[in-house]
Amino acid sequence: MTDWVDAGDASRLDAAGRTLVRIQGHQIVVFRSADTLHAIDDSCPHSGASLCTGRLDDSGHVKCPAHGLRFRLSDGRMAGSPKGAAALTARVYPVRVSDGVIQIQLGGDGG
Ligand code: FES
Repeated sequence: MTDWVDAGDASRLDAAGRTLVRIQGHQIVVFRSADTLHAIDDSCPHSGASLCTGRLDDSGHVKCPAHGLRFRLSDGRMAGSPKGAAALTARVYPVRVSDGVIQIQLGGDGG
């Protein structure tokens, strides 16, 4: 079982429902979408642009501000990839709030 790592006070989630955290060499965006928290690497898997300022849509995707690719917050998969094509995937992390503190699990696949 991977430990939860503190990533700052939950009040950091601004009115737009997002905050950028840096923990243990990772730069991660925490989004609140439909009352659910999601944590996703801030680096777009296409070409590395920051996803922090990307627009969220009602279907739980963030749109990269650089070239417009959309990534599902729940699993990081790119939306709309052609059938059979390898889809780009942004890394996502388990996230929770415990006693007012954002906590993220970094371990698992490559953490
Ligand atoms: S860098 Fe994100 S879509 Fe190109």
